[in-house]
Amino acid sequence: MKILLYISSIIIIIFSGLYLYQENIAPEWRSHQLTYIDMLEEKSDPETIQASYSFPVKLRQIYLPEMNRVDRCVSCHVTMEDPRFEKEENPLMAHPGEYLEKHDPEKYGCTICHDGQGRAVNWKDAAADEPDVYWTTPILRKPFLEANCYHCHVDLLKETPYYSLGKQYFETGGCLGCHKRDGKGGYLGPELRGLGDASSYIKFPVKDFNQNTFTQLNYNRNLAYIFESVRFPGAQPEETLMFDFKFSDEDARAITVYIKSLTAYPDGTQRLSQKPVSALPFIKKGQETFHLYCTACHGKKGKGGVKNPNYAKDYIPKLNTLSEIMFLYKVEDRNAVISTLETFGDLLDADPKPDFRGFFKAIAKYMSVKSIILNGHIVEKKDSDGPTPINMPTWEKSLSDDEVFSVIAYLISLYDQ
Ligand code: HEC
Ligand code: HEC
Ligand code: HEC
Ligand code: HEC
Ligand code: HEC
Repeated sequence: MKILLYISSIIIIIFSGLYLYQENIAPEWRSHQLTYIDMLEEKSDPETIQASYSFPVKLRQIYLPEMNRVDRCVSCHVTMEDPRFEKEENPLMAHPGEYLEKHDPEKYGCTICHDGQGRAVNWKDAAADEPDVYWTTPILRKPFLEANCYHCHVDLLKETPYYSLGKQYFETGGCLGCHKRDGKGGYLGPELRGLGDASSYIKFPVKDFNQNTFTQLNYNRNLAYIFESVRFPGAQPEETLMFDFKFSDEDARAITVYIKSLTAYPDGTQRLSQKPVSALPFIKKGQETFHLYCTACHGKKGKGGVKNPNYAKDYIPKLNTLSEIMFLYKVEDRNAVISTLETFGDLLDADPKPDFRGFFKAIAKYMSVKSIILNGHIVEKKDSDGPTPINMPTWEKSLSDDEVFSVIAYLISLYDQ
């Protein structure tokens, strides 16, 4: 019995010793720093050799109290800012691009762009991306890394093509017809700010992604969940109001980058001020409003064609015939109504009233259209016992008067398009 105790104690001591050795005497970062010194010596000019003697081997970190971060990535990635290491392998490769020139590592660290576990001293924990372990901030690689740029930047950057494409799909595809972003938009689907924070939104994909797709999503469950929601809306739940937009994998990835950027803003980040943009012309503003909130249900350019299950009329109505419904067949009449909407807002407030014969007939239709936009409309079911179709949402709370008037003007302008 005693012997057994001795043996097990010795085994424990050996293992503890190995662990201590691994963590303290031969940690991973130490070997990378030693390799770095060897490499410096190989680059044989006297100055470099001198530098190699004065390079202390030690744990290195960037301490960022305002951001509440300690980034030890530079314990291994010691050559980030040394262009001579451009062609070497990670972790001893110089950082690609001009990112560190534009963002001083002493001030920004690494995880603000890359995520990962800043405090970790081995690469496995720093990357935090093992598929079977739940990590809150797995490392982000290209292109998903682009999402983090917009925790600070507001204007589009040419370095972020996926984000730009994703944002464009999002803002012209009518996603906000059902979703809110920062509190503004429809209400049939959930608010999307915060979905990129895996820590507060623990949602997992149910779909069994093939290895290829999962690799392309960095083994990151949060990214995979967002990707799944966009690419396979029926994955969870099976009965969903969300339309299948038939995005390709590539487009869904771009939208995933965009939605991933919608997180709570990390500590210590500031939004950079936006370049002033000139106000859009009235009709363009209406078009923008339509793209943001209406196009998913009413179709591109209001052409309709979107199925509504168990709706008496089968398809959500097209809206590009509004000028005909308002009897505005003549271009002068349409222009008069559009400029009244722009100048006075509500047609009833026009003073003087536009001077054409059909104006009062147009006003009657205008009133009912405006009322449907502001108050919504419950649709008629085809089969009264069947599922609830999509109703026209109310927009009174989420659209400004100006947005409502401009979107009506835009719909009138679609007459011959
Ligand atoms: C301003 C954002 C930003 C910061 C800060 C930043 N990076 Fe990067 N990093 C990027 C981008 C973007 C790329 C991809 C560039 C490319 O390949 O074109 C990248 C690429 C890399 C790569 C190469 C990846 C590969 O595919 O080979 C490494 C390694 C890396 N970064 C490490 C770091 C470390 C370590 C730090 C901290 C010292 C850091 N980065 C700080 C934005 C950043
Ligand atoms: C203990 C050493 C170590 C630490 C600490 C470390 N890395 Fe690395 N890193 C490596 C090694 C080794 C590689 C090359 C891995 C490979 O090729 O599989 C690497 C590769 C990378 C890459 C290239 C992408 C990839 O998957 O190959 C990026 C980006 C990166 N590291 C960023 C970071 C960031 C950000 C941190 C801090 C959160 C960090 N690293 C901390 C050792 C480290
Ligand atoms: C923590 C905040 C922050 C993050 C994250 C960040 N940046 Fe920056 N970036 C800045 C600040 C601050 C400046 C300096 C702004 C200035 O000079 O007007 C800057 C400058 C730049 C510039 C130079 C702009 C110019 O006009 O010269 C580029 C390009 C850039 N960032 C790209 C990126 C990219 C790409 C990413 C993501 C990979 C990124 N940034 C992430 C804060 C950030
Ligand atoms: C017709 C309404 C509708 C439209 C339009 C719509 N969605 Fe959805 N979406 C939903 C609903 C409802 C859910 C919640 C899933 C459920 O319970 O059915 C959802 C869920 C999601 C989720 C997962 C959110 C979470 O918190 O789990 C994402 C991401 C998403 N939608 C993205 C989009 C994008 C991107 C677009 C535009 C291309 C879009 N949606 C357009 C109704 C819509
Ligand atoms: C979630 C889907 C959805 C969204 C988003 C949506 N609508 Fe509708 N809309 C409908 C449905 C369904 C009807 C049919 C109502 C009925 O038949 O009772 C409708 C009807 C209308 C009508 C009346 C058309 C007619 O011929 O009776 C107008 C006008 C209208 N919507 C404008 C808008 C505008 C403007 C927006 C954007 C601000 C918008 N809708 C966003 C679903 C939607």
